[in-house]
Amino acid sequence: MATKLLLTFAICRLIVTVGLTLDPTELLRLGVDGQLSVDPSDVETASLDFGLLTRAEPLAVLHPSSAADVAHLVKTAYAYGYGKGELLTCSEEQNPELFHAVLGGLGQFGIITRARISLEPAPQRVRWIRVLYSNFSAFTRDQEYLISLHGKPASQKFDYVEGFVIVDEGLINNWRSSFFSPQNPVKISSLDSDGGVLYCLEITKNYHESTADHTIDQEVESLLKKLNFIPTSVFTTDLPYVDFLDRVHKAELKLRSKGLWEVPHPWLNLFVPKSKIADFDKGVFKGILNKNKTSGPILIYPMNKNKWDQRSSVVTPDEEVFYLVALLRSALDNGEETQSLEYLSNQNRQILRFCDDAGIDVKQYLPHYTTQEEWKDHFGNKWDRFHKMKMEFDPRHILATGQQIFRPTFASSSSKIASW
Ligand SMILES: *[C@@H]1O[C@H](CO)[C@@H](O)[C@H](O)[C@H]1NC(C)=O
Ligand SMILES: *[C@@H]1O[C@H](CO)[C@@H](O)[C@H](O)[C@H]1NC(C)=O
Repeated sequence: MATKLLLTFAICRLIVTVGLTLDPTELLRLGVDGQLSVDPSDVETASLDFGLLTRAEPLAVLHPSSAADVAHLVKTAYAYGYGKGELLTCSEEQNPELFHAVLGGLGQFGIITRARISLEPAPQRVRWIRVLYSNFSAFTRDQEYLISLHGKPASQKFDYVEGFVIVDEGLINNWRSSFFSPQNPVKISSLDSDGGVLYCLEITKNYHESTADHTIDQEVESLLKKLNFIPTSVFTTDLPYVDFLDRVHKAELKLRSKGLWEVPHPWLNLFVPKSKIADFDKGVFKGILNKNKTSGPILIYPMNKNKWDQRSSVVTPDEEVFYLVALLRSALDNGEETQSLEYLSNQNRQILRFCDDAGIDVKQYLPHYTTQEEWKDHFGNKWDRFHKMKMEFDPRHILATGQQIFRPTFASSSSKIASW
């Protein structure tokens, strides 16, 4: 699906790039017969991003049957230029520059047609635990402690550490509600919450049934003992590993059944430096979002920067530990102002403005900027390298133009091109 979307942009730009006024029948003669579709439903499907926020209609959609088809199309698009459109195998050893550049590269350097992912034996079961905090600094201290254990033996750490923020009571009993069962609804008001906001730490421990009886309980207990959550707020469930991996899909099915899936998703994903996360809490969770319906989960968890390969194109804050804060919102057209796309998009801007004013140097994960200046600012000291890689691997700027990082450049002969 991702391949298809990228190609639609490439085709779109191909037409512009070579300055042709093609109609769809001519387009079909480009030598990829039978694979280019101008069927309105194909074109429509490929026109929208997954968040249903932006729209760019391609002339055609390619249905490649092999990586060679993709390469052929790109080569055709480069016909007037530099002879790109090669099939390359990349790894840490082979073409390492391109290998690292495409990771987090926002589609700027190539089209990934195949990936090899290493596997390992799966555990059988998962003990899945949620505990609540009203004290933000106790919450972050525990989360940071838990991720500091990553080098320890498996028995002395959790396998998964995440968390989320609860600013309105509806959420806690609804979202992925198998956890907080209806027989046992959590009342925020009954907990001593700090400014009406609660924080939920979510942790898991994988195990095999054969070793289950004693050790899993003991290991979990001794880890929990070191944490400072609200003592009466431990929610535990136990499930097969596959069901744990599939948990988001289950939530998707539930939302789909209520018609709440194919709606716009004005998500905001931020990397917040650890030194400023308390300021962020005061200004955003307890400020801008406080008491408003949040229209979706707000994830929060810290990460170790050294787990991110600095050779990749992803940009992270300049601190050893930083937080992901993900506002995974769904906009609804139900007449409630605070759930509307406009309201939520405004709130996103307000949050970014707050960070800017408060000197919180956040980095957006998967941002949507519209000028190169903003992108330069985003990449910071990684910009020069990003730019260099672009010159090397896509010198005519035809890949993923929708990101608006580089404007396509044209051969001087293509004088028919108007600006767009
Ligand atoms: C919140 O937790 C921090 C760190 O554990 C502690 O120093 C502080 O006293 C707590 N605040 C309240 C109001 O309990
Ligand atoms: C949402 O929160 C903001 C900031 O706390 C507040 O000014 C606004 O009135 C709230 N909106 C609604 C509809 O509750």
